[in-house]
Amino acid sequence: MIKQVKEKFEELFHKEPLIILSPGRVNLIGEHTDYNDGFVLPAAIDKKVILALSANGTHQCNVYARAFDALISFPVENKKPAQGWINYIMGVVFYLREKGYAVKGFDAVLDSDLPVGAGLSSSAAVEGAVGYGLTKLFNLETTKEELAKIGQIAEHNFAGVKCGIMDQFANLFGKKDQLIRLDCRDLSYAYFPFHFPEYNIVLCNSMVHHSLASSEYNVRRQQCEEGVAIIKKEFPEVKNLRDVNEEMLKKFSHSMNEKIYRRCHYVVNENNRLLNACELLEKNDLQGFGQLMYQTHEGLSKDYEVSCEELDFLVSLAKEREEVAGSRMMGGGFGGCTINIVKAHYVNDFSGFIKEKYEEKYHKIPEIYVTSIEDGVKVDESGSER
Ligand code: GLA
Repeated sequence: MIKQVKEKFEELFHKEPLIILSPGRVNLIGEHTDYNDGFVLPAAIDKKVILALSANGTHQCNVYARAFDALISFPVENKKPAQGWINYIMGVVFYLREKGYAVKGFDAVLDSDLPVGAGLSSSAAVEGAVGYGLTKLFNLETTKEELAKIGQIAEHNFAGVKCGIMDQFANLFGKKDQLIRLDCRDLSYAYFPFHFPEYNIVLCNSMVHHSLASSEYNVRRQQCEEGVAIIKKEFPEVKNLRDVNEEMLKKFSHSMNEKIYRRCHYVVNENNRLLNACELLEKNDLQGFGQLMYQTHEGLSKDYEVSCEELDFLVSLAKEREEVAGSRMMGGGFGGCTINIVKAHYVNDFSGFIKEKYEEKYHKIPEIYVTSIEDGVKVDESGSER
């Protein structure tokens, strides 16, 4: 794929590009906690965006996306969002320049083997590729933390999704075979080795992509803020759901709107679950860890209501198999993938089993990806021989 991207770039722009490899992410546990100042446990994966780019000495940015066979140009001074995928690029260019970085015109070709809308953060992978790529191209003195924040704000204001920082952070800070335990309150983080050679991380793509995903995502965020506003009246020190414990929350079990209560209940529990999960990882207790993943799914489905019938079905299938340590829906929800920790020797059978049962019920075949944990965004140094 790298080779093809490079060739396309040379065909369109007649020069040698810089090549950036920018991964998608998984998240083991800690879902919908990032924008509540909580903890997450993501990692960068082998599926990625590839960006070829080069400065062009003009004020124009020309970007060709192989997936859409479309070339879009915009002036580097552009301030307004447009339609569709180009927003992720425009947004990053805009915020880099707003922070005073001297981004100039460039040519680019974009390709990806990350399925779009599958909850693997293809948008953050594009943002990271552009931020990191322009940093290298124009020798900007950005930091990875700053690039993650730029990606996030581009997503808020150019793509309209009020996301947390997990996806951008994982894309930039990913490290081979390591999970990142990130505290979204102050962005402090620690790497946790994920070294279980007997197991694989397997993603099952429900192939469901609800148009509701981004609007409902923003609604969840508002509901959490509503909950915090109520809790604050009694506990003024509370800034975010991160500051709330179960005991405090219980006091509102009758006075708070039932739906808002359930949203808060899920987030408060999920933060605790993540901390317990990390302790289990340190003890190499993957079975215990997996049980917490099932609990997370239950919470996301019943309390937070961001799952869907197809995802619930995929998790229930996984739960039947003792070779699966844990399974749950992953990412924003309303479709996309489940993440499963599966005994390596059982992966082929698991894949066949899931495909058969899912097709029988929904008349579509789920895609299954066996992933590995890889480095975050970087310059390709392979010489593009692949
Ligand atoms: C999406 C967002 C993230 C995070 C997850 C849910 O992936 O981009 O910031 O909120 O959903 O955990």
